[in-house]
Amino acid sequence: MSKQVLVTGGAGFIGSHLADELLRNGYRVRVLDNLSEQVHDGHPARPGYLADDVDLMVGDITDPGAVGRALDGVDAVFHFASMVGVGQSMYQIADYVAANDLGTAVLLEQLAEQPIERLIVASSMSVYGEGLYRTTSGELREGQERSFEQLKAGEWELHDATGAPLTPVPTPESKTPSLASIYALSKYMQERACLIIGRAYSIPTVALRFFNVYGPRQALSNPYTGVLAIFASRLLNDNRPIVFEDGRQRRDFVHVRDVARACRLALERTDAAGRVFNIGSGQSQSILDIAAKLSHLLGRPQLTADISGRYRAGDIRHCFADLSTARSGLGFEPEIDLDEGLSELTGWLRQQDATDRFDQANRELACRGLAV
Ligand SMILES: NC(=O)c1ccc[n+]([C@@H]2O[C@H](COP(=O)([O-])OP(=O)(O)OC[C@H]3O[C@@H](n4cnc5c(N)ncnc54)[C@H](O)[C@@H]3O)[C@@H](O)[C@H]2O)c1
Repeated sequence: MSKQVLVTGGAGFIGSHLADELLRNGYRVRVLDNLSEQVHDGHPARPGYLADDVDLMVGDITDPGAVGRALDGVDAVFHFASMVGVGQSMYQIADYVAANDLGTAVLLEQLAEQPIERLIVASSMSVYGEGLYRTTSGELREGQERSFEQLKAGEWELHDATGAPLTPVPTPESKTPSLASIYALSKYMQERACLIIGRAYSIPTVALRFFNVYGPRQALSNPYTGVLAIFASRLLNDNRPIVFEDGRQRRDFVHVRDVARACRLALERTDAAGRVFNIGSGQSQSILDIAAKLSHLLGRPQLTADISGRYRAGDIRHCFADLSTARSGLGFEPEIDLDEGLSELTGWLRQQDATDRFDQANRELACRGLAV
């Protein structure tokens, strides 16, 4: 009999691709998802992209009854159910703590009663805050959060104590977490809580710190989601993408099918248990380059990025993944390069309608002083 896997939050972007990957590899897949309005754009129905063979249970991760039913006969769990907006987490604090922290607690209480073969939790690069840097003399330095005074003066880059520039380098799992949002705090809580309970109850547990995941099915009308989806939604509505600061901040964009494969490796590699892995592309791109590539691919090269010079509380300058641990511990190697992934994404985007809610989301931040 093939193994039964539960994916919480599995009707969402990454979870649905993971479901495809698992089904292709002979697993049975159940999903527990509350089909949250913000992600599913007000359609509380089974998403059309979710594979027919997925057993979808609509329910909330904070509901012990729903979680108990979803766990019946399950061999392994991927815990993905989360609210995912960094900015929104700074004012819908109770909602984020409930879904992410309490939801994880409810799941773990049930797993303590019914241990499984493996638990994999979706953590995030947001737990790092700033990434790792190198000084002009070659020493490594953990990036420190920039002050509001520095940002106000438009000094976007990081410097050392002498004022010399710091150069970003790939960030390894050993970098000390620096939690700058309620979202990041809740992702760290989820990661730690799963590892702590996993250890105490002998549930082999793996935490995966995803970087910026992109690809088809990302919720385009959710203005709190990934930057590529937000830019796509702007461009599809003939609006210019708006970038914060000078747009030269660098991130790591990894294709969702590479992420789904990394997840399966985390399920299957026995030596991965008890460990934390970065899952990214290992490459860094500036936000300006990403905006330019996307507007070009969507046939709207005239919609160049609007460089706003504005900034948001808790935003970091640069962070991209050091994949050494994922390579050696999971055998993970990203296979889809950015140009290939973006041109595939464009094909999907052309068939989508998106409501551009960027201005509305931005006003929510600005009126609270969270974006300047
Ligand atoms: N997309 C990224 O770039 C990225 C980066 C780092 C980490 N992650 C993490 O990966 C996971 C999946 O993210 P995603 O991009 O697929 O997000 P998503 O919003 O597309 O999917 C999340 C799913 O969880 C469901 N959900 C939300 N609250 C729930 C609740 N209370 N009970 C049950 N279901 C609930 C939503 O309906 C949605 O289907 C999340 O844990 C997220 O924090 C994502």
